Amino acid sequence: MLRFDIITIFPEFFREVMDYGILRRARNAGLAEVKAHDLRQWTMDKHHVVDDRPFGGGDGMILKPEPIFAGVEALTGASRKEDFPLGTRVILLSPQGEVFSQVLAQDLSNASHIVFICGRYEGVDERVAEALATDEVSIGDYVLSGGEPAATVVIDAVVRLLPGALGSETSAVFESFSEGLLDHPQYTRPPEFRGMKVPEVLLSGNHAEIERWRKEAAIAKTKRKRPDLLKE
Ligand code: ADE
Repeated sequence: MLRFDIITIFPEFFREVMDYGILRRARNAGLAEVKAHDLRQWTMDKHHVVDDRPFGGGDGMILKPEPIFAGVEALTGASRKEDFPLGTRVILLSPQGEVFSQVLAQDLSNASHIVFICGRYEGVDERVAEALATDEVSIGDYVLSGGEPAATVVIDAVVRLLPGALGSETSAVFESFSEGLLDHPQYTRPPEFRGMKVPEVLLSGNHAEIERWRKEAAIAKTKRKRPDLLKE
């Protein structure tokens, strides 16, 4: 069972998102559990303030360290990254993080407990990244208004790798990125649609030929659309 806890100022954001498709199945099957927690519950003041102005001046507000440290401590039992139980990852979602990848998704799928800290506003006090987060992760080189959509992306990519999450155990192995290539093109019926024909070889029943075609088509497609994946 992989447990996800999400620290956010918008816990409601996750209510419906977590209730579809493979994620719903994985939760129902007891493979994963997801809980969103309101950061404000860990504030100490009566107005439940989670942010403050940046030292040194500048625009925008910064998420304060105290409620985030208190939240991680409540969820993991520790408040320094050296002290987390084995199998625990505390992930700060921010555009400054390591860019998320299939390799990182594989790595995270071996964890037993993942805590996400969703950044907001103009940033998060740096002591969170320094002392608390085992990982800082970005889902791509663009800026979201908060880490919440990024948390849903990471959870989706990780949960579908859990043994038993997909209908067929093998289907996560033979697909885009696990071999460093894009998927080969796929077709279903009808064999001809609006003048567009399915490649003959796929209708041939010759499995060796089909495999060869798929491998070549995957390489050709990768060369054309993502040449960066082929450069070592
Ligand atoms: N928060 C804001 N932008 C982000 C990004 N690209 N990835 C993860 N978290 C973010």
